[in-house]
Amino acid sequence: MAMMNLLLLLLLLLLAVLHLCLLSAVAGDDAIVSRFQEYLRINTVQPNPDYYKAVDFIISQAKPLSLESQTIELVKGKPLLLLKWVGSDPTLPALLLNSHTDVVPFEESKWTHHPLQAHVDHTTGNIYARGSQDMKCVGMQYLEAIRKLQSSGFHPLRSVYLSFVPDEEIGGHDGAEKFAESHFFKTLSIAIVLDEGLPSPTESYRVFYGERSPWWLVIKAKGPPGHGAKLYDNSAMENLLKSIESIRRFRASQFDLLKAGGTAEGDVVNINMVFLKAGTPSPTGFVMNLQPSEAEAGFDIRIPPSVDAEALERRLVEEWAPASRNMSFELGQFKQKLTGKKFLTAADDSNPWWGLLENAVKEAGGRTSKPEIFPASTDARYFRKAGVPAFGFSPISNTPSLLHDHNEYLGKTEYLKGIDVYVSIIKAYASYESKSGSRDEL
Ligand SMILES: *[C@@H]1O[C@H](CO)[C@@H](O)[C@H](O)[C@H]1NC(C)=O
Ligand SMILES: [Zn+2]
Repeated sequence: MAMMNLLLLLLLLLLAVLHLCLLSAVAGDDAIVSRFQEYLRINTVQPNPDYYKAVDFIISQAKPLSLESQTIELVKGKPLLLLKWVGSDPTLPALLLNSHTDVVPFEESKWTHHPLQAHVDHTTGNIYARGSQDMKCVGMQYLEAIRKLQSSGFHPLRSVYLSFVPDEEIGGHDGAEKFAESHFFKTLSIAIVLDEGLPSPTESYRVFYGERSPWWLVIKAKGPPGHGAKLYDNSAMENLLKSIESIRRFRASQFDLLKAGGTAEGDVVNINMVFLKAGTPSPTGFVMNLQPSEAEAGFDIRIPPSVDAEALERRLVEEWAPASRNMSFELGQFKQKLTGKKFLTAADDSNPWWGLLENAVKEAGGRTSKPEIFPASTDARYFRKAGVPAFGFSPISNTPSLLHDHNEYLGKTEYLKGIDVYVSIIKAYASYESKSGSRDEL
């Protein structure tokens, strides 16, 4: 009988301990989520982001982790925060975990919850906020992963840097671009950069190894003006419309490839008309009985590295804006060439960081899909340009991509799972001993 009682008592004790463990795990997760919410609530919306508040918050998060920290203002009023978890072997090149602190604006009335409230839907566990996918999640996940690694007693061999950069959403020129071009950046000796990717609607995570080159094109047409009631050839409107028709046909051919399947988003040329400008203004709108002498249209073009950009430029000169049709064009400062080997980080056996990443994700219970070309632009291009390999990766699966969209959200479970994925990646990267991980040999 006494034996039975003792067993019962032991069983009860065991149950109590288990219960406590579970409770503290839940409490730990709650604390992780509320730290994320706190970051999401900081107003870093372009064009007036409160960068200092974001930086102060991140510093307060880094303090208990004993990370070294420095704030750099490459441009006044635009602080870039750099944290460092010092590795035990300073001769090994470091890894850099990059994230941007700014977010894009929102149309508040189109959201079900205020985008700066970071409201958690208690039935779905979804956290609604601008930046929940792009990319305050990633910035905080890096820190949470380091917190977890530290409490498990892990010490990095390579140093781990975390950069929280401004201005990505407006081109990154005063943020990551200046940072990557600086002499200071070279002194950090970075072997590999991780930056943002895109959510995946399926079970597997998406990884990006290059980007399409953005071209912002304006085409202009000129022609003789005339009466609105007269039919004649070579008016500016007619000339412009011929080009628009030709561009539309090209767009359809690219879109068909995408619709047919088998071609990834980042492997087709994207060409979208973003503005049309023509007409002679009048107090009531536009003069209706006048054909204008000038007309122009703007296009956002994205060119994959696999496409011959020279051939596209010939098409532009000969078909879309031919001087023979009184047309001209401007590509301006936004014609970026991100083609060439330098802008493509090898995602195969030739790059040890690729295998380590793939494996680390697997060890965390996840899967990566076939590496892709990023359809838009990220700061990763500046690091690649500086000669450092970079992968675009946001550990978000089973989630629709809502970057820059209304009701951007991230599920709590997905967020927590992502932290464990980073735990695995940072551990693998920071423990990688080979000197061949140095950038010069890649
Ligand atoms: C080009 O513009 C001139 C002057 O307006 C006009 O005479 C000519 O017909 C135009 N040519 C074409 C091909 O549009
Ligand atoms: Zn982003």
